[in-house]
Amino acid sequence: MRDDSSDDVFKMFNPSSVLVTGGAGFIGSNYLLHAVRAHPQTRYVNLDALTYAGNLANLADIEGAPNYSFAHGDINDSDLLARLFDEYGFDAVVHFAAESHVDRSILNPTAFVTTNVHGTLVLLQAAREAWEGADGPRRFHHVSTDEVFGSLGSEGHFTADTTYAPRSPYAASKAAADHLVRAFGTTYGLPWVITNTSNNYGPYQFPEKLIPLVIRNAMTGAPIPVYGKGENVRDWLHVEDHVDALDRVLHQAGTRSTWLIGGDQEISNLELVHMLLDEVDRATDKEAGTSRNLVRFVTDRPGHDFRYALDSSPIQKELGWRPKHDLASGIAATVSWYLNNAAWMNAILGGDYRDYYKMQYGSRGMN
Ligand code: NAD
Ligand code: TYD
Repeated sequence: MRDDSSDDVFKMFNPSSVLVTGGAGFIGSNYLLHAVRAHPQTRYVNLDALTYAGNLANLADIEGAPNYSFAHGDINDSDLLARLFDEYGFDAVVHFAAESHVDRSILNPTAFVTTNVHGTLVLLQAAREAWEGADGPRRFHHVSTDEVFGSLGSEGHFTADTTYAPRSPYAASKAAADHLVRAFGTTYGLPWVITNTSNNYGPYQFPEKLIPLVIRNAMTGAPIPVYGKGENVRDWLHVEDHVDALDRVLHQAGTRSTWLIGGDQEISNLELVHMLLDEVDRATDKEAGTSRNLVRFVTDRPGHDFRYALDSSPIQKELGWRPKHDLASGIAATVSWYLNNAAWMNAILGGDYRDYYKMQYGSRGMN
């Protein structure tokens, strides 16, 4: 835990009205599905632009909940933000909205600066204006990534004090957003918390990311693209464990503190892909090893970070958080979820996805 202040660490904070941005995306929707039911006294307003990655179907289970509402809009829209702050009197913001896929940031970095940097700035301004001179505690929680710290070799872990060294346009845009959040704390006294998290997986993840992409391609017998030799290492965290950590940070952490949330489940991409394919074979009664034949080694991602790993001991020690899923049980549950929710997957894969897929993988020899 990096603590940039000392005054109010570990006071309980019980927000009455929370603005959640990007709540129709993968992590945001899992967060809302948990928080809206866990905190019935708290109002949650989900502001989402519904880009290709936003899907209100993820939230079907809470759409009628009395403490939940949806607002369709862009975090760059300052008038809309002012109206929402005015109407709902938010005392907390949990900011998920972002362009989130590294490969898309390589194809089109501009959208990443527009949403992740400028959008975060507009949101910070709105919170600052609404909260200036107000009584009572407030929190601006920025949900960020381990990728801001750059790339590790085969040893070591990032800590919250590691110097930022982002290497992709996505990582650079998230790093810039983190810097803006801290700068608003220092300059204007805005009360913030930041969480930096490792690779998430689980239900409702858009199938441009490795795990749902592999499951989907295996389901349809399509080739599985593995970048380079598949030796890069990621640390995987089940989204429900992430959501549990986020909820603790918002409610228990002091302002101006930074928390790293990792799964302690490191694995190389090729080993992970094999694990997923073997699980698909097992769950669909195919002969063991059948789907491994689908693997294709393709041109590597430019600037591909070798490894990420986070030291999560501070959140474990100080907020009592532990991940409940190990990778084997988490992967089995996730494969089963995607197999049982093929209709969810098919509904989101229109022409846009096919265009993206062609652009991303066509030149790598996979259509
Ligand atoms: P996602 O791409 O699945 O969802 C992003 C959501 O933000 C979508 O619902 C989209 O419609 C919305 N959105 C995009 N631009 C917007 C705008 N301008 N205004 C309003 N809404 C907008 O992303 P995710 O995987 O759920 O990630 C959520 C957050 O967590 C992001 O900030 C990401 O950087 C961070 N994060 C993700 C991971 C991961 O493994 N997925 C890991 C660490 C950190
Ligand atoms: P991804 O899910 O895009 O997350 P991130 O880039 O944020 O880590 O990718 C996870 C790893 O899998 C990363 O090392 C890139 C690799 N990868 C592939 O090998 N093939 C693919 O088709 C994709 C999408 C990713």
